[in-house]
Amino acid sequence: MVNDATVVILAAGQGTRMKSKLAKVLHRAGGKALVEHAISTARHIAPPERIFVVVGHQAEAVGAVANAAGVRSFEQRQQLGTGHAVMCGESELAGLGGLLVVVTGDCPMVRPATLQSLVDLYQKTGAKAALVSADVDDPTGLGRIVRGDNGDVLAIVEHKAATPEQLTIPEINAGFYCFEAEAFWKHVHEIRTDNPAGEYYLTDMVAILLKAGHRVVALKAADPSELLGINDKVQLANADRILRERKVHELMLSGVTIIRPETVNIDADVVVGQDTVIEPYVQIKGATVIGENCHIASSSIIDHSHIGDNAQIHPFSVISNCTLDAHVHVGPFARLRMNSHLHEGTHVGNFVELKNTEFGAGSKSMHLAYLGDSTIGSKVNVGAGTITCNYDGKKKHRTNIGDRAFVGSNSTLVAPLNIGNEAYIAAGSTITQNVPENSLALGRSRQVVKEGWTPKR
Ligand code: UD1
Ligand code: CA
Repeated sequence: MVNDATVVILAAGQGTRMKSKLAKVLHRAGGKALVEHAISTARHIAPPERIFVVVGHQAEAVGAVANAAGVRSFEQRQQLGTGHAVMCGESELAGLGGLLVVVTGDCPMVRPATLQSLVDLYQKTGAKAALVSADVDDPTGLGRIVRGDNGDVLAIVEHKAATPEQLTIPEINAGFYCFEAEAFWKHVHEIRTDNPAGEYYLTDMVAILLKAGHRVVALKAADPSELLGINDKVQLANADRILRERKVHELMLSGVTIIRPETVNIDADVVVGQDTVIEPYVQIKGATVIGENCHIASSSIIDHSHIGDNAQIHPFSVISNCTLDAHVHVGPFARLRMNSHLHEGTHVGNFVELKNTEFGAGSKSMHLAYLGDSTIGSKVNVGAGTITCNYDGKKKHRTNIGDRAFVGSNSTLVAPLNIGNEAYIAAGSTITQNVPENSLALGRSRQVVKEGWTPKR
């Protein structure tokens, strides 16, 4: 972290080659929007109040992402080039001294350590600008680095403006720059649009600073793959794969057991505790936190949820926006959603759905049930086929079930309804009235047996 660094994230472009209605930087890789990756990386370099996102296409949506991530944005109404993009922030930025770090918003794989090395090189050499470069197999479309005899950078030549000889240069400009803020703002208006694209190229700052008698240096990245920009959906999928690979490696090195990690999809911000086992084809999304020593079985999908230690999630369970305390057993084929909370030691079995339901400690619902908008006490047994009828066609109503109650199989509980502690509901009942504690409720017609009926039929 450099306290006097300002980071500008270029994110105003549309990204034509994505062939999408969504602005490029809002596309997701590794479970986060591209611009969110840029912001997370920038946070390693500068304090949040000195991080700015340049927005243009879908400015409101991109600005909202910046805002949610705790950083500011400014608008570039017309996309007149990367140099123009930075200039649009002049009124807010020019007063901030120190370092001006400019990064492209469409390069989600760059590591914070690489940006830190860029800043280190800038500080060590005393140059007025430093940038990240890489030798690549196919430099088509990218800016080429022209170096002088002493290794300093003389110019960045954009592909469209390059001579045939310059096009053979394998060293490209990755789109990450560190400038002395004072020198940058002093000279930025010298950028001209006399190039084939008619744009204000940020990359022209190299030649401009050189002409003013300053040095520009380049940091050649050891691993060019982290500098791959996203321009189309093939590159997006490739970045997604690499980011997810990194995530599972990081988790395994921290003590999580992952079986066939190449099949598992885990978003960047997910936290998983030590000795938890994750089976093949699991997906874990959003801001999910999973405790230690859990077992997450095959093909389960967990989204924005908290799971305590020692949980057993059996195959094909789908859990979103829920809290599960320690020692719960869920699934196979369970569906938990909308702020349901499973307290410690609960068991929720196959084909059971919980929606917006508190499920008290030690309670069980093992087979084929729908529990919606309900508050269920501790040590309750919910029989197979139990349904809370929470919706009357207009409104949702709650079902409350007390501690140690027993709900017989195939019961229909018509809400609003209160069932007291230790009450029993006979199997097959339709319950429409409250049941006081310690009572038995039967809500079904009595069985009739007609002996000797069959021969007379
Ligand atoms: C740019 C560099 C090129 C480098 C390449 C690396 C320039 C002139 N060229 O080219 O040397 O090799 O990145 O990926 O900078 N943007 C804006 N406003 C604009 C134009 C672009 O915010 O007016 C943003 C885009 O949203 C994108 C980033 O800047 O996030 C890069 O723009 P892009 O058009 O992709 O630049 P390249 O042609 O790839
Ligand atoms: Ca690009």
